[in-house]
Amino acid sequence: MKAVKVKEGIYWVGGIDWNIRSFHGYLTQRGSTYNAYLIIDEKITLIDTVKSYLISEMIERISSVIDPSKIDYVISNHVEMDHSGGLSEIMKLAPNATLFCSPRGETGLREHYRENWNFKPTESGTILNLGKRSLHFILTPMVHWPDNMVSYMPEEKILFSNDAFGQHLASSERFDDEYPLDIIMMEARKYYANIVLPYSKQVQKVLVGVNELDIEIIANSHGIIWRKHARQIIEAYASWASNETRKKALVVYDTMWHSTESMALAIQDAFEQSGYVTSLLNLQYNHISDVMTEVIDAEYICIGSPTLNGRMMPTVSAFLTYLSGLAPRDRKTIVFGSYGWGPKQIEDIAKQMTESGFEVVTTEKIKFVPSTEDLDGLRSRIKALL
Ligand code: FEO
Repeated sequence: MKAVKVKEGIYWVGGIDWNIRSFHGYLTQRGSTYNAYLIIDEKITLIDTVKSYLISEMIERISSVIDPSKIDYVISNHVEMDHSGGLSEIMKLAPNATLFCSPRGETGLREHYRENWNFKPTESGTILNLGKRSLHFILTPMVHWPDNMVSYMPEEKILFSNDAFGQHLASSERFDDEYPLDIIMMEARKYYANIVLPYSKQVQKVLVGVNELDIEIIANSHGIIWRKHARQIIEAYASWASNETRKKALVVYDTMWHSTESMALAIQDAFEQSGYVTSLLNLQYNHISDVMTEVIDAEYICIGSPTLNGRMMPTVSAFLTYLSGLAPRDRKTIVFGSYGWGPKQIEDIAKQMTESGFEVVTTEKIKFVPSTEDLDGLRSRIKALL
């Protein structure tokens, strides 16, 4: 396992998690990486670590460049354990190293590891001189934890951005000019929709500062490093954070005997006939983290469930919980479903969506199996709304 040169004297020394498929519930069908960076200067500096089970890989990569005991400074941009999980081992190898993090980072690391490391809490604007180069710390609270910060190296025009601009993607290629850009962008979009979305207002504030920096490379902490398309991912973040939607309808549903599914198809057809881009996703076959990727630019989110024991289907319930936490703003919703002897699920879904801040435009219910006339009527009513 070798280090990968990012620039002269700056190396990627992270870990590749080829087979992870669930990142606390997020379907990571392409795996992930935890990116850490080693800087060889007058002060030997390590930025972030990896998940604990990949620490041997990381130490091997560091050792391909330098003896890890020579590390002077460790920068922890973020407490979450996919980036701090290797700290204990690193601090054992380099016990005199100074550990720089935000003040809330220090609190969080102490609460995670119960260690009395040589903490040096930093503030936005603090400059750490490494020798020929320096790191400028910028605190970015709630993008996406209270402790987050990023580190900017002006001499090399590198932004060490931690979670921001990342993608869950395992690959032996490290840079965005080595891997298909459409896949990187798609995974970055999924990452934003599932992790960063609730903090879009904070992202907008951070982007103001980022836009003032001269950036050639974004050395993020998951997936591919941006060195050719850094501007493109910054612009994509600006668009996602601004909550821009387009003429698009997402129809999400579960079904028991295809009655709710036939309603979903009629609703999708109504949107298509009205010039909308549509996406139709059955929750039995589509993971909620993939559904979220479609939510990000949808003007309408239509949610369908039949009645199951007087309630909505559990898949729909799970999706509503997940959607509500990720809190996309200013979206319209249509609630629909078939029922046998009581349509309470429609009322429950509509109530939850309203409480989560969505505008419920209409609700639609059909008893047992929809007739052709029922579906024609549904299609007409939806088209009349658009
Ligand atoms: Fe990649 Fe918030 O950890």
